[in-house]
Amino acid sequence: MAVERTLSIIKPDATRRNLTGKINARFEERGLRIVAQRRLKLSRDEAERFYAVHRERPFFKDLVAFMTSGPVVVQVLEGESAVALNREIMGATNPASAAPGTIRKDFAESIEANSVHGSDSAENARTEVAFFFSESEICP
Ligand code: CMP
Repeated sequence: MAVERTLSIIKPDATRRNLTGKINARFEERGLRIVAQRRLKLSRDEAERFYAVHRERPFFKDLVAFMTSGPVVVQVLEGESAVALNREIMGATNPASAAPGTIRKDFAESIEANSVHGSDSAENARTEVAFFFSESEICP
């Protein structure tokens, strides 16, 4: 196993309900370290560029509208197999299918307002981390 970094976003539905601390506790309890973190409001351009891979999907316009509807917390999580571990902690994209005890099962409102985003591969994690953070902003 290798120490990895992954990009996490606490989404507007969760910041609106003041769930940042509860969600961060889930990461820390499972051994992931929050090595960078920033609260911000995404511009439409940033949301469209971040989710560019979904540009042709029918939900793209709504996804961009939702992700720009309120503050998000972008963060870098570091730990053993961080990409896969974070996806386990988050649970399935659709909260209706998410396993008990996962963030999305416990907190998500819908498949769109699903509280958190996490990188889906080590390669995408590198791109997504670099989208928000320079190396000097990451403090392991
Ligand atoms: P996320 O992990 O941030 O990646 C893309 C997001 O699109 C996803 O979580 C969901 O919040 C959102 N989304 C909305 N509708 C769908 C859908 N039908 N299938 C997959 N993702 C969807």
